[in-house]
Amino acid sequence: MTGVTKLIGPFRQVVPMTGLPLKGGISDTELTVVPDAGISIEGDRIHSIGKFSRLLKGFEEAKIELVHLEGDQVCLPGLVDAHTHICFGGSRARDYALRNSGKTYLEIAKAGGGIWDTVTQTRKATKEKLVKNTVQLAKRHLQNGTTTLEVKSGYGLSIDEELKMLRAIKEANEILAIDLIPTCLAAHMLPKDYEGDAEDYLAEIANILFPKLKEKRLTHRIDAFIEENAFSAEQIGPYFKKAREMGFDITIHADQFSTGGSEVALQFNALSADHLEASTQKEIELLAKSNVIATALPGASLGLGCNFAPARKILDAGGALAIASDHNPGSAPMGNLLTQAAILGTFEKLSNAEVLAGITIRGAAALNLSDRGRLAEGCLADLAIFHTSDYSEILYNQGSIKPSMVWKNGKLIFDMQKD
Ligand code: NIG
Ligand code: FE
Repeated sequence: MTGVTKLIGPFRQVVPMTGLPLKGGISDTELTVVPDAGISIEGDRIHSIGKFSRLLKGFEEAKIELVHLEGDQVCLPGLVDAHTHICFGGSRARDYALRNSGKTYLEIAKAGGGIWDTVTQTRKATKEKLVKNTVQLAKRHLQNGTTTLEVKSGYGLSIDEELKMLRAIKEANEILAIDLIPTCLAAHMLPKDYEGDAEDYLAEIANILFPKLKEKRLTHRIDAFIEENAFSAEQIGPYFKKAREMGFDITIHADQFSTGGSEVALQFNALSADHLEASTQKEIELLAKSNVIATALPGASLGLGCNFAPARKILDAGGALAIASDHNPGSAPMGNLLTQAAILGTFEKLSNAEVLAGITIRGAAALNLSDRGRLAEGCLADLAIFHTSDYSEILYNQGSIKPSMVWKNGKLIFDMQKD
């Protein structure tokens, strides 16, 4: 019992998301559900999960803090959102209205809206303003149960402006209780003011920015948008080669409107290929055979009004499916992971277990983090607690049951009753 600092419970159910395969479909019967459970915590880690009454007896003698819960409470691992762009300036409400009046995402981008519009507004913002914006949006995620949130740069698109964004993400992380995982997306598009071609730009970023990212410990992850009006598979080759040589993890915006990105993900052993709305059976099979996590971004489909990634087919082919919000000002302004994941489940016919795995254990795998996304001895005590009697109510209510409490690293960081 030494070292245990807290016992939390009783929970009507704890769903630890343990013992599940990383790849392929999962039926709800495979999901472990621990009834009438308690969770004991040692510092920032989980010590044990078991019957509350048994844990209580065992800890009676020891001086531990008892966090006694009222009513029916269900505990999931803190959610892991493996793909967002919440560090930005301005708004793209105009793009949204234009899209809904018939213009396409690519047409709006070509006419001066799109990513470049946000780049202009992000460049105008001070680093302090970006920190403030990022903290504000991250708090929204926190209150929806997310305890680990990836955040990309990619609206700076010059050495200095990308550094400004990544410093802002780092400072926001220091302010927030949840973990922000930064990713460099300097290859989001060829900046319109760059005097040179795509190859020159990518070489400049790789040769000048990559070493600075290492030196200043700003990120260990590199992303690129492989698409018609961003970068081609050929152009990105030397960029990712350099990133790999320098030991960066790779993730890719792949197959959003056209295919090509998934193959690059395999070629460079990327951790994840994200989007995949345009993936065909060929890409589905390639991904399923590989170690690349396929990350569906239903928020981008909902924001753009287009089809979802073929999540069911990916799982049936044996792939690993993560689900992330893609929260960004352009294609995915909503940013509510639980709602989006539940809706993806409805349209793609995913089991509760598959959806929950996508936003916990498989999301963590997309970020190469093995200490979270599940509740097991030694894992971070990151908890999303919902006031309900059965875990299946959470997705069934499609995000309208909000967490009653969120814990991060063994500390209560959100309490619906108080905050
Ligand atoms: O993941 N597809 C490229 N990047 C973002 C959108 C960024 C934006 O429109 O500002 C995405 O959807
Ligand atoms: Fe994205």
